[in-house]
Amino acid sequence: MVGDDVDKIIVRMEHIEKSFPGVKALSDVNFELKSGEVMALLGENGAGKSTLMKILSGVYTADSGKMNIFGKEYSNLNPKLAQEIGVAIIHQELNMCRHLSVAENIFLGREKTNMSILSNHEMEKVAKAILDDLQIDIKPREIVGNLPVSKQQMVEIAKALSTNAKVLIMDEPTSSLTSKEINDLFRIIHSLKDKGCGIVYISHRLEELKEIVDRVTIMRDGKFVCMNDFNSMTMDEIIANMVGREITEKFPTVKTEKGKCVLEVKNLNAGKMVREINFKLYEGEIVGFAGLMGAGRTETTRAIFGVDKKDSGEFILDGQPLKINSVKDAIKSGIVLAPEDRKKDGLCTKLSIRDNIALPNLDIICDKAGIVNRKKETEMCNKAVNKLLIKTAGLEVDAGTLSGGNQQKVVVGKWLARDSRVVMFDEPTRGIDVAAKVEIYHLMNKLKQDGIAVMFVSSEMPEVMGIADRIIVMCDGKITGELSKEEATQEKILSLATRFDKKL
Ligand SMILES: Nc1ncnc2c1ncn2[C@@H]1O[C@H](COP(=O)(O)OP(=O)(O)OP(=O)(O)O)[C@@H](O)[C@H]1O
Ligand SMILES: [Mg+2]
Repeated sequence: MVGDDVDKIIVRMEHIEKSFPGVKALSDVNFELKSGEVMALLGENGAGKSTLMKILSGVYTADSGKMNIFGKEYSNLNPKLAQEIGVAIIHQELNMCRHLSVAENIFLGREKTNMSILSNHEMEKVAKAILDDLQIDIKPREIVGNLPVSKQQMVEIAKALSTNAKVLIMDEPTSSLTSKEINDLFRIIHSLKDKGCGIVYISHRLEELKEIVDRVTIMRDGKFVCMNDFNSMTMDEIIANMVGREITEKFPTVKTEKGKCVLEVKNLNAGKMVREINFKLYEGEIVGFAGLMGAGRTETTRAIFGVDKKDSGEFILDGQPLKINSVKDAIKSGIVLAPEDRKKDGLCTKLSIRDNIALPNLDIICDKAGIVNRKKETEMCNKAVNKLLIKTAGLEVDAGTLSGGNQQKVVVGKWLARDSRVVMFDEPTRGIDVAAKVEIYHLMNKLKQDGIAVMFVSSEMPEVMGIADRIIVMCDGKITGELSKEEATQEKILSLATRFDKKL
């Protein structure tokens, strides 16, 4: 599509309504998309962004309202039909068959056949071409479940691109990509735009929007708020429209005296990605772990939490040597981890919010006979829901039906209910909206004020510099440097984050 067709309205949704049991997800929502543009769809967690886009891609049917795609009205769209007419969606929650290969995932449901025989060779060839175009080093034969989240996300993107869509919906595509992968994605977005493709772009990483976005649609509480040219609004205006109020302090900090050492990690080694790690965590201090994706930060938290077996190393907690051979050991001694991959490690999507929060805390909420004290349990769960502003119709709601950001809050919330000595967060604000991010920072500050040692891994440089009192930088499985809040700059962090030791 070139010339006249560019700038043509290709999607128009009007007066869309959608309810789920106990939740009005969308009420009277309007949306439009032109060919050749990138439309950002913005709003807080639970605003209804994913739901609206699932309607456009045939995953859900609207209760009422009109939907016109390429000039034709659709009332009964389904995913297959949507794909046929050229609508593709990259889902926020990775939706892959973990036991299948990359190529099989890319062609799932439309396997290439050669005389009715599945042609693996053909699929792998086309998959390789798409991946090469993305300049991503993933082999078509690799099993998806063995790939890190960032690579899985690239496979999801490749899958959507392979359908030659004219309407491409990206629901938080960059939430776990490395900066190189994000650049590749932006390059692809620009070339799709030039070809006349209309792109809906959902993201909580507002700073990246300026690179690609033409217009914005903002939603709040299931309602349409406004639609504007991106350049006609300031970032503060965009945030105020999303949140319904102004956010004055994006990185709240509290001053506390640095107290005694809580945890000392000595000569920790675990596999290839955790090598000779030494650091101390103190009371009254938040330590940020910076580095590029794949630097070994997640692996370090996992080795401390007892998920992965360590090869060598010692832990000293409150002056006493500590043995951690399992997650149970870690939790028992007051060391907890809110992990990065919430679907795999952090959340039981089929269980209720109540059960998710209660499960790791049974030791606290059970009486001596091992029977759950429902009152204690409810109190604990309500506290987590209220503290983190988890948007839900109630505690009995399945965690899997929550919006992406609210799922993340449950993962964090379940650890806040207990008394801990060390709390480790791995990418705690991934997929979380601006207002809820501030809530999580408040929470980290609160833990710090309570004398708990807090460490967090984050790939968002402004967040690390804004929240951490001290920054430890890792590269290639090793600690390459340490910076105080005062001396840290983006340049210094990046230089440490790319200090590869060639000898090894
Ligand atoms: N399948 C479902 N069953 C029940 N409730 C649902 C379902 N899907 C979404 N909801 C609810 O609808 C509301 C809107 O959710 P949606 O996922 O669209 O939000 P979102 O804007 O994408 O948020 P986020 O930024 O966190 O991804 C939320 O309250 C959510 O809990
Ligand atoms: Mg969503």
